[in-house]
Amino acid sequence: MTDRPLTQNLRPDGSPVWLADYEANGGYQGLRRVLTDSTPEACQQVVKDARLRGRGGAGFPTGMKWSFVPMGEKAGLGPKYLIANADEMEPGTFKDRIILEQDPHQLIEGMILAAYAIQADVAYIFLRGEYTVAAQRVAAAIKECYVAGYLGQDIRGSGYSLELHLHRSAGRYICGEETALINALEGKRANPRPKPPFPQVSGLWGRPTIVNNVETLCNITHILTRGADWYQSLGLGADSGTKLFGASGNVKTPGVWELPMGTPIREILENHAGGMHDGYQLRGFLPGGGSTDFLTPDHLDLAMDYDVIGKAGSRMGTGTMIVLDDRHCPIGMVRNLARFFAHESCGFCTPCRDGIPWIVQLLDRFEQGLATEEDLALLEEKARFIGGIGNTHCALAPGAMEPVLSALKYFREDFEQHISGRGCRYQSLGRGH
Ligand SMILES: Cc1cc2nc3c(=O)[nH]c(=O)nc-3n(C[C@H](O)[C@H](O)[C@H](O)COP(=O)(O)O)c2cc1C
Repeated sequence: MTDRPLTQNLRPDGSPVWLADYEANGGYQGLRRVLTDSTPEACQQVVKDARLRGRGGAGFPTGMKWSFVPMGEKAGLGPKYLIANADEMEPGTFKDRIILEQDPHQLIEGMILAAYAIQADVAYIFLRGEYTVAAQRVAAAIKECYVAGYLGQDIRGSGYSLELHLHRSAGRYICGEETALINALEGKRANPRPKPPFPQVSGLWGRPTIVNNVETLCNITHILTRGADWYQSLGLGADSGTKLFGASGNVKTPGVWELPMGTPIREILENHAGGMHDGYQLRGFLPGGGSTDFLTPDHLDLAMDYDVIGKAGSRMGTGTMIVLDDRHCPIGMVRNLARFFAHESCGFCTPCRDGIPWIVQLLDRFEQGLATEEDLALLEEKARFIGGIGNTHCALAPGAMEPVLSALKYFREDFEQHISGRGCRYQSLGRGH
């Protein structure tokens, strides 16, 4: 068998793998065995031993997260829930989309096993509103599973029952934050909830709930059927498994590739993304989507591992890189991202609601040639405050400030040049924004 478990079923033409083909490739074969031969606690232990870390951005250990869910009588009366976070609105991130569109049964099988491990009764797939192709295909795959007896009452005679629903988001980035997602599912305004209580204990309708990323859940079937040691052996460094890495920007072949955890950044950008387009030089990149800190060509030989990237001053995030070249303005790029984050603020807390638009206004002044040294000092001070952990209600604003603060660190001469030159020199290239 291949060592690319997440993408092994994908076809070159991108057409979806329906149930018959998924089963013919070995899909759902381990399901009944796990549901009848393994206890939920044993499943949790294997996922812990595999050292799977959540692929939604924060890299929290999945087995540990599950272990916070009350089991048996401790759970009290009422259902428990599992939610697949398929909101995927992080700028530059399009990794879950390929699974949702092309191999929806991989997600569903992983969800059935994850739900069994925490003894959930009901599961939801919370899907980004714009993912219309994924919506049709996931809905059709769920229907196939009910007909085949993989969902519903007494799954394949195992005694375990699970209902699975597809929920299409109305479309806000903040709905990807797990507690805002839970509010949205309940039909409320999608503001994040205070934590504690954590969803594992009190989530959807006040009941124990696990929210996991699509890619995280896809790993579960492979881990439970092939074992923790095998999964650990897939990684090149400290982190286990493979990862859907990606790249966008002025690279020759943007895309998504399943590669071992710990793959060097240079290999991803030069071999898989094909290097920079002719005439463009790499200036920097956001390693894990639009809310991570810039790294530079000096970091190309680092491994894409959570701790390595963390020590270099950024975050692995979603593992999908956005590349900045030498003919685009770094200030224009971070301004564009800051506009997105300002638009997507839920408006609940003042530093995020009023602070990010203020950052956009300051960045506008640089692009318009109006900025002064005082504006530069103000930008840095306000970005530091808004980005400070604990100064805002959730992680949206700190994430939004990561590209801004790291641009101030690595591309400071651009800010200075915008002040002294009274405008953006990149605009003369016709490529300022
Ligand atoms: C503003 C914001 C947006 C987020 N968007 C997503 C998202 O689209 N998909 C996702 O899986 N996690 C997203 N997250 C992270 C989730 O809150 C949560 O940590 C994640 O779904 C947990 O899954 P994991 O443990 O499998 O990584 C977002 C977080 C924040 C603060």
